[in-house]
Amino acid sequence: MKLQAGILITIEGIDGSGKSTLAKSLQEFFNAQQIETILTKEPGGTELGRHLRTILQEQENPLTPVAEFLLFAADRAQHMAQLIKPALAQKKLVISDRMADSAMAYQGYGRGLNRDMIARVNSWAMDNITPTLTVYVRVEVATAEARRRARSEKVTAFEREQKDFMERVVAGYDTMYAAMPHVILVDGSQSPQEVFDNAWKQIISYLKQHHLLV
Ligand code: ADP
Ligand code: TYD
Repeated sequence: MKLQAGILITIEGIDGSGKSTLAKSLQEFFNAQQIETILTKEPGGTELGRHLRTILQEQENPLTPVAEFLLFAADRAQHMAQLIKPALAQKKLVISDRMADSAMAYQGYGRGLNRDMIARVNSWAMDNITPTLTVYVRVEVATAEARRRARSEKVTAFEREQKDFMERVVAGYDTMYAAMPHVILVDGSQSPQEVFDNAWKQIISYLKQHHLLV
């Protein structure tokens, strides 16, 4: 298998949906096919993103939603310029665990910020580059919560979110992705192996169909 261009695949879904588990399996799969694959994430893919994660996790006073959005957007601009664009120029496959659609789902649908403004700032931050393909790992809020509890990580500011907030985020993803041909829907309530099989088969078929992979 050979890529015909740089490819950006983003993985989206709520916290605990299984995005990072899937992203790692996909990276191993593509590397095994001799396709050079970079796995990255937002926030956290760059030094700025790692600082931002700490700030967001340790923030005691809730951030105003606009400030929160602009921090994620600043990280996105840095991530795009520093890591993603150069990798795409080298015809690599980039897999990003979250990107612009997370801001639309969390800050737009979840927090109720102006969605046109989010879309504009997101495009600016991304220098008008859009993902080749987005994998939406869909789970119910209760499933994701049960997994996060089982993981028994320290409860961070991220995870102190109310259930109704997460419900708005899921509904936001569902609305956003209802009619987008570049979005692959994966049922995240299945086993990790089933999620992975479902995802890679759909990704390969999409890329071949669009002559991006031969
Ligand atoms: P995310 O990156 O979306 O927050 P993770 O991949 O970190 O999600 O998964 C959250 C937790 O659920 C982890 O403990 C992981 O081992 C587990 N998990 C991931 N995928 C599945 C799955 N398909 N079925 C059951 N548990 C899963
Ligand atoms: P992280 O621990 O990476 O999430 P996950 O549980 O998916 O591994 O935390 C990222 C958090 O930041 C997550 O709650 C989603 C949120 N987020 C936004 O609200 N807006 C954004 O633009 C991005 C990229 C993330």
